[in-house]
Amino acid sequence: MSSATIATPHVPVMLERCLEALGPLQDSWVVDATFGAGGHTRALLARGARVVAIDQDPGASQHAEALRRDLATAGVSRAEERFRFVQGNFAELADHLESAGLPRASGVRAALLDLGVSSMQIDEGERGFAFRHDGPLDMRMSGDGPSAADVVNSWSHEELAAALHRYGEERHSRRLARAIVSAREEGPITTTGQLAALLQRAYPPGKRRDHPARRTFQALRIVVNDELGTLTRGLQAAVEALEPDGRLVVLAYHSLEDRIVKRTLREHPDLEALTKRPQQASQSEIEANPRARSAKLRAARKLTSEATP
Ligand SMILES: C[S@@+](CC[C@H](N)C(=O)[O-])C[C@H]1O[C@@H](n2cnc3c(N)ncnc32)[C@H](O)[C@@H]1O
Repeated sequence: MSSATIATPHVPVMLERCLEALGPLQDSWVVDATFGAGGHTRALLARGARVVAIDQDPGASQHAEALRRDLATAGVSRAEERFRFVQGNFAELADHLESAGLPRASGVRAALLDLGVSSMQIDEGERGFAFRHDGPLDMRMSGDGPSAADVVNSWSHEELAAALHRYGEERHSRRLARAIVSAREEGPITTTGQLAALLQRAYPPGKRRDHPARRTFQALRIVVNDELGTLTRGLQAAVEALEPDGRLVVLAYHSLEDRIVKRTLREHPDLEALTKRPQQASQSEIEANPRARSAKLRAARKLTSEATP
């Protein structure tokens, strides 16, 4: 597959369920902390909400521009009163709300975090997220900091094995880490295709449910973007930003992030979990959009100060 693969547009996952869980939002400010291509934001605006959208990917600003143009075409006056976009990490959500002009004290009515990567990020080979699309081994959502190639070519065998075990839940972590270290002795590993091929060769033969590179790619993506650390900080910041009785809705796509979401929504002293078990996409949605298959939706309500234990 060429590195110039065209990205398919991102289809928002579990859209109706998200809107339902976020509650009535007419004229209230909502933060969409993972704007992507803006699918959820557009639906929120259509329901009368005002949205502050955040995304760390520089490419998301083009989608924000397109949305602004559509608002102008639709004759929405004072569009700034309905939609604002900030490029940044949701771990610093409070700062982003402030730079979008929302005073810290006033709070938002709801927050949505639709975690993970967008279809654009996966499908554009040159972003280096996908083992099925050849491209530079990058994986940085924000474009800053060390890339996946930096990690793969500089970490020790022990560090790589620990990361694959912890963040990829990869059973053969030591063996695959050994294969990476031995392959790089021949020269640096610089492309997704190179890495995927060497993992495929190193994987023990036999039946398996998924591609031999899947878990290693997941682990590297989590490391490169500090996904679990930023999720913990982002959830905390979202809870703090909510007004009393405000709603928090999170879509998680793998068990490591879902575990953090589950624990936060159950144990945070300011939250009441509204979903005992996670909600999942319907069969018909999964058939239409296979990326919805692994989605788990959890929702919570911020307790009013009198109700906080
Ligand atoms: C699944 S997509 C969101 C898709 C979006 N809901 C839509 O309908 O188009 C996830 C997005 O979250 C962004 N993202 C992931 N982690 C982030 C973080 N820590 N801070 C800000 N944005 C993040 C990614 O760059 C990506 O664009």
